[in-house]
Amino acid sequence: MMHVATTREELAEARTTLQGTVAFVPTMGALHVGHRSLLVRARGLADHVVVSIFVNPLQFGPTEDLDRYPRTRDADLAMCAEEGVSLVFMPSRDVVYPTEPLVRVNAGPIGERFEGASRPGHFDGVLTVVAKLFGLVQPDIAVFSRKDAQQLALVERMVADLDLGVRIDAAPFVRDADGLALSSRNRYLSSGQRSSALALPSALAAAALKADEGATPQTIVDTARSVLDGADGLEVDYVALVDPDTFTEIDVAADAGSAASLLIAAVWVGATRLIDNLAIASVRSDANSADSSAPTAAKG
Ligand code: PAJ
Repeated sequence: MMHVATTREELAEARTTLQGTVAFVPTMGALHVGHRSLLVRARGLADHVVVSIFVNPLQFGPTEDLDRYPRTRDADLAMCAEEGVSLVFMPSRDVVYPTEPLVRVNAGPIGERFEGASRPGHFDGVLTVVAKLFGLVQPDIAVFSRKDAQQLALVERMVADLDLGVRIDAAPFVRDADGLALSSRNRYLSSGQRSSALALPSALAAAALKADEGATPQTIVDTARSVLDGADGLEVDYVALVDPDTFTEIDVAADAGSAASLLIAAVWVGATRLIDNLAIASVRSDANSADSSAPTAAKG
């Protein structure tokens, strides 16, 4: 039987009935096949899976899509039940924030780069709610996907820096057959916009091919950017090759020959913001650019 808790009391009571270990999957609902993959993964990690569904106002900017964020309660609960989830926590805003939270998590410098630069305060809001949900749910493990790579890096860092005692599982993410990463926000796209959006995964894939051929970081980034710049109906926010833990840019001049790195990009398609990323196993340093050895790229 699946418990559905909306209050703190219901959550606490249901939580005490769960014997053994708990894997937690925090979400904002509008669950898709990508979320489903996290539920399946979580089930393999612990005795019970707990899911939260909460559209967290703290992580939305004043001009963002908080009010129109898709809400699909019944379908979400059906998916959780199908995947053997033990407990779903679906609180209202007042349950999570009974008073204005005066003390919040500061995401620090990693939270100011890329997504954080474009969405000021976003990661403080994410980390504050994740810390609260960890306190409420008391999980052993929490599952986050690499789709939101900067969020994942920050959650890992928060758990380490604040000793929250929750193990973080980094899960792969799911793409649609056409290559577009699944996202709750894909529902906003018209069919024309969706075609434009496909330039995002194509740009990353083209750049990864260059990396396979031994391209320098600059060439890898330029390749992705030129695919995006050539696409209609899409505006580039950023494209960069970064260290996957710190989200600092790979130093083009330094010897980055063996560094694992992440190619990240964010674009606007109309009013919809989409992000994507691709792991690059190793990039060639400019210092060695006369070298004929060709490092390889990992896609995933
Ligand atoms: P949400 O966007 O609902 O995402 C919940 C989880 O699903 C995150 O770990 C996210 O990375 C993962 N996810 C998104 N797209 C995916 C895909 N295509 N394949 C697999 N997993 C995917 O991320 C949030 O909610 C919020 O910021 C939250 C952490 C819940 C805090 O409010």
